[in-house]
Amino acid sequence: MDEPSITRRGAADAPSDGSSAVYAALSDAVMTARRVNVHYGDKHAVRNVNLDIGRNQVLAMIGPSGCGKSTFLRCLNRMNDTIASARVDGVITLDGSNIYDRKQDVAQLRARVGIVFQKPTPFPHSIYANVAYGPRIHGLAKSRGDMDELVQTSLARAGLWEEVKDRLSTPGTSLSGGQQQRLCIARTIAVNPEVILMDEPTSALDPIASAKIEDLIDELRANYAIAIVTHNMQQAARVSQRTAYFHMGDLVEVGPTELIFTNPQQRLTEDYITGRFG
Ligand SMILES: Nc1ncnc2c1ncn2[C@@H]1O[C@H](COP(=O)(O)OP(=O)(O)OP(=O)(O)O)[C@@H](O)[C@H]1O
Ligand SMILES: [Mg+2]
Repeated sequence: MDEPSITRRGAADAPSDGSSAVYAALSDAVMTARRVNVHYGDKHAVRNVNLDIGRNQVLAMIGPSGCGKSTFLRCLNRMNDTIASARVDGVITLDGSNIYDRKQDVAQLRARVGIVFQKPTPFPHSIYANVAYGPRIHGLAKSRGDMDELVQTSLARAGLWEEVKDRLSTPGTSLSGGQQQRLCIARTIAVNPEVILMDEPTSALDPIASAKIEDLIDELRANYAIAIVTHNMQQAARVSQRTAYFHMGDLVEVGPTELIFTNPQQRLTEDYITGRFG
């Protein structure tokens, strides 16, 4: 089946511990997560999650605070590796290869699957240097001219070029919050990722700066697969094609965004989107 149904349960996916195993497999998935569990010590933070990220699509992840959204997102580029108590089980593939394979180069993975955080985090260097940093490390530019072009293209794709083209040598930290967040997006784009992860990328921004980021997300989808965690349900409805609802570590339901917001199949999802819970 090509079109994702709103939920799908398969006997093969039935977990032994009785937790939910809802997922919608996509035929054009860039990334797939199967039976992903995350523990922090004894705390079981993500429970048996099966979820795909589709090409040229935005997947929104919503759910109450503490339900495991960020934890799951961080599994997708192995950011949880940096948390000593975190243990990730299951299989996550990027273009068919398991990213948890021992042979996986993690720096390479994080270039292919970039991440943008809630708080804009530019390096304390110039705007130019912020964008050039990744390409330099990964050897993506052969000459100064190449690098100039890459910096310009990345800033343009992040919708920031026009605003900064005359001040590339000023510190990234001198930009406004919204501009800083677009700079971080430019920095992510500069290393030519396939997937961009975003964890509440607009929650520190005012409505106008947020709207710009939302427009940008919609444009970026032409070239990248995107997964975004958001507390703002209007935002999820505006920017995503698929929405996943998490609750206490479980993926409760995933499906086309319109359906999740108009006709959720699970009571827990309905309670959350109607504001009865969370
Ligand atoms: N580094 C950590 N060590 C221990 N427990 C953690 C750690 N990070 C998260 N947790 C716990 O794991 C669970 C899931 O947390 P997570 O941050 O993924 O939730 P979230 O859905 O992103 O919440 P929020 O919407 O508040 O950002 C929570 O119970 C949280 O307390
Ligand atoms: Mg979070």
